[in-house]
Amino acid sequence: MDTLSLGSDEMPIVGLGTWKSAPGEVYDAVRTALDAGYRHVDCAPIYGNEPEVGRALDETFAGGDVSRDDVWVTSKLWNDAHAPEDVQPALESTLEDLQLETIDLYLMHWPVALKPDTSMPQSPDDLVSLDEQPLAETWAAMEELVDDGLARHIGVSNFNIPKLQSLLEAGRIAPEMNQIELHPYLPQTEMVSFARENDVPLTAYSPLGSKDRPEGMKADDEPILLEDPTIVEIAERHDATPAQVLIRWAIERGTAVIPKSVNAGRIKENLAAADLSLTDDDMDALSGLGRGRRYVRGELWTLEGSPYTLESIWEE
Ligand code: A2P
Repeated sequence: MDTLSLGSDEMPIVGLGTWKSAPGEVYDAVRTALDAGYRHVDCAPIYGNEPEVGRALDETFAGGDVSRDDVWVTSKLWNDAHAPEDVQPALESTLEDLQLETIDLYLMHWPVALKPDTSMPQSPDDLVSLDEQPLAETWAAMEELVDDGLARHIGVSNFNIPKLQSLLEAGRIAPEMNQIELHPYLPQTEMVSFARENDVPLTAYSPLGSKDRPEGMKADDEPILLEDPTIVEIAERHDATPAQVLIRWAIERGTAVIPKSVNAGRIKENLAAADLSLTDDDMDALSGLGRGRRYVRGELWTLEGSPYTLESIWEE
């Protein structure tokens, strides 16, 4: 399995995504994935399933075939814990749920702050502006997690170039990851170049187009990535599936990729994508599909009266 280097550690390039994996399903998904050879699991407390992921990890390690050191586990700081004093307790709660002593990678989930104990904002009062709670202060508290040995690596998610640049300038530790939405409909070529020039690895989330996300997050006219004729045609030519083409596309671009599945067959199929070879012509055809299509737009943070707008989040 290919890896990305984070400092002296190697992160397996394909990980199991767990956003939208329901409690009751995610235990089997994690066990199946680790059994099939996955060595990277991507988690977050807001997914509402970390205790069940933790049970799957613990029982796998107890089985003796896979050890803790073999598996890369990422989790994320939720938006309601950006105040510096809330950062360590948030990670400690995640570590307890995941039944781990340390996390391999801890990401600031969004460049958006919420009042404490707010999962999702119901009114503008639930949001805290970045002037009131600067990202650099949250980052400084995350740096202490590394100092204290609770997190081996720290990074961010959903950061645009200017926000990433400002942390690169302000931080004592440079962000070691930006996890963002990446797929052929949203290739983010400028971010990919910026990240490469600045040695910030990227992870592609929603690599398959996240068709199982909540209806409220979907646009009426949205194209279905897995049914794109170009992707289907490339898949057929390689005797592969559209999902495998999408996963291999992400690997070819040097990004980690975290397809979510709770289906045993598809979990294995997604890992096997690492063995597919795409030609230069295939990559050219896929690079023609870009259309700025964000499936995860961040509209939750922009309700009327919010200090955040889609422009301020993405600067597009
Ligand atoms: P399931 O969990 O039933 O397999 P994303 O990773 O972009 O968020 O996409 C996840 C969605 O893609 C889920 O609906 C998941 O369903 C589905 N999915 C995962 N792997 C595959 C695959 N190999 N082929 C088709 N759909 C897949």
